[in-house]
Amino acid sequence: MPNLSAFPPEFLWGASSAGHQIEGGNLASDFWEMEHAPGSVFAEPSGDACDGYHRWREDVGLLAGIGLNAYRFSIEWSRVEPEEGRFSRAAIDHYRRVVEGCHERGVTPVVTLQHITVPRWFRRSGWWTGPEAAARFARFTEAVLPIVSEGVGHVCTINEPNFAAMLEHDLAPARAAAGAPAAPGPAVTEAFITAHRRAVEVLRSVPGPACGWTVCVVDHQPVEGAEEAAAAWARPRQDVFLEAAKGDDFVGVQVYTRELIGPHGPLPVPEGAETTQIGWEYYPEAVGGAVRHAATVTGGTPILVTENGVATADDTRRAEYLTRALRALKAAMDDGADVRGYFHWSLLDNFEWLLGYRPTFGLIAVDRATFARTVKPSAHVYGAIARSGRLPG
Ligand code: NOJ
Repeated sequence: MPNLSAFPPEFLWGASSAGHQIEGGNLASDFWEMEHAPGSVFAEPSGDACDGYHRWREDVGLLAGIGLNAYRFSIEWSRVEPEEGRFSRAAIDHYRRVVEGCHERGVTPVVTLQHITVPRWFRRSGWWTGPEAAARFARFTEAVLPIVSEGVGHVCTINEPNFAAMLEHDLAPARAAAGAPAAPGPAVTEAFITAHRRAVEVLRSVPGPACGWTVCVVDHQPVEGAEEAAAAWARPRQDVFLEAAKGDDFVGVQVYTRELIGPHGPLPVPEGAETTQIGWEYYPEAVGGAVRHAATVTGGTPILVTENGVATADDTRRAEYLTRALRALKAAMDDGADVRGYFHWSLLDNFEWLLGYRPTFGLIAVDRATFARTVKPSAHVYGAIARSGRLPG
């Protein structure tokens, strides 16, 4: 009989961040360039972001103080390899220090090698569909082995290749005008899978972390009679990416909401439903459906929920989201989903890609002028669950 409120003692309770979204000053990144281009489709440039490159020690300290035991952050490829084949010792040492800093605070580091942004030179040489992409990513992975072999529990190779491919579509304004993001084409999908596999080979050459990648998973809910349409919709957009995780050490599931699917694709958010700052339906239970789906499609690959959260200015809604999401997650685990950890998105209010700083996903607020951090009450609600390993009530 499963214990209905207690999570396993070794469960990872974490929060996530990503290099470009918090660090600031990523001058050699492709996004920096696109944010500053005339006629840019970005709401605003990332600028100093949260000054996270300099304030990481404070951030890890706050995370530990909240009561969390794991921190997922990403290495910014453009800092480590600002020009093709030239690696920055200073940047590698920086990320090694972050890993060490986590250990000093009793926090398990989970490291993402590539989170949306790439160096400008990589974009110019064809991005992920360039002829040498997988070899280039493998060479970068080798260069960062000294970071990940310092006691990193899990390494995520590529973050949300499915979202990255769809974002690429939105970045071309002419094509974005066409409406809903197109599914990634088979060539892009194949290129990402090949790059992931090469990186895993490199990572497995050293003893150490479990390896996987992270996939954006929407809880697709077909309306009656639209089951086949929903499966056809999900397949190129997420399921092929989940299938590629079969046999990996883990898969990262990143989920924020559900989508109702009708015979011709996604339906609008139901009338009267609460929506978040970015228009997604407020639907905390999505994590349960997403995890059950991922467990089925991957054939039981262990799961980390590497991102889950809500863009809201009302922190009481975040606290409720967290509690309901964790309840739904626990129910999926009690039904057999092998989930090893949960990482809330995000540790900090940060740069939300095309939308800039308006959406606030953070457990911690960041003053845009001074970068002062203020822990929100929802963080303490989450911390209390994490410390006890139990759901309230
Ligand atoms: C997924 C992405 O990994 C992250 O970068 C983004 O900020 C969140 N989703 C919210 O959109």
